[in-house]
Amino acid sequence: MFLYDCLNSKRCLNIRLAAPLAGTNFSILFSAAKFSKRATTYTEHNIIQKEVVKKLIGNIHSNPKKILDLGCGNGAVYELISWDIENFVGVDKATNMCELHPISDKIKLINKDFETLNFENFDMVISSSALQWAKDVETLFQKISSNTDEVAFSIFCDGTFKTIYETAHLKKFLPNQHKLLKILEKYFEFTHEVIDYKLEFTDNLSKFRYIKNSGVSGGERKLSYKDTKKLIDSYPHSYLEFEVMFIWGKVKKKKN
Ligand SMILES: C[S@@+](CC[C@H](N)C(=O)[O-])C[C@H]1O[C@@H](n2cnc3c(N)ncnc32)[C@H](O)[C@@H]1O
Repeated sequence: MFLYDCLNSKRCLNIRLAAPLAGTNFSILFSAAKFSKRATTYTEHNIIQKEVVKKLIGNIHSNPKKILDLGCGNGAVYELISWDIENFVGVDKATNMCELHPISDKIKLINKDFETLNFENFDMVISSSALQWAKDVETLFQKISSNTDEVAFSIFCDGTFKTIYETAHLKKFLPNQHKLLKILEKYFEFTHEVIDYKLEFTDNLSKFRYIKNSGVSGGERKLSYKDTKKLIDSYPHSYLEFEVMFIWGKVKKKKN
């Protein structure tokens, strides 16, 4: 059952899981994008990312013909494109995710790090739930802005897992929305929206299995078994928090 709630200034969506997720271990894996290893479980546990990509693609109205998708994963962006396209290039550094991507004459898949990619020209660069892992997001935005007319991004920000970080005294690693906006403003004219998602669970153990299986975390493993157990026991909410920023825009015209 899905339950949607709206709050005041920032939008907030509550999503309730019908049943706890299956799994056996409960270490919090703040591991560097283990998407290849977790490609199959990602497909089953990417509940928030599925909502995010629907919103991102649902708000594109310019029908771009040549599209580059950074962090294409198993093809969530491509699957939602409802207009005619000429070509679609998907880039993902996880081999197992690329293997799950749809293939056709119009699709080219590049199994590579998007930060080291040489870009061609595209009508639109799209990226859903992936740019938060860029090591140098400013250089990447600059490169994108030289090779496209339009952009559509969804980026997980540092409000994601906020209470976990506060409870466990861990250092946040996801980008801050205000800092990201400042960088984006240098290269793009855009509209943006920030949505707080709350994913409800029936018990704490399921929450931590979700983090592990969804691949939504990112940094390095920080907690011992004992500290993880303590965190699970003291976590105060029935939900996990996710903060996602959406960007839809055009590249800024250079002044002569
Ligand atoms: C959360 S998944 C999102 C997949 C898909 N866009 C979606 O919305 O379901 C993030 C994807 O980005 C990829 N990724 C993360 N950092 C990357 C990088 N630097 N270069 C290429 N792919 C990257 C991961 O391998 C993973 O497949």
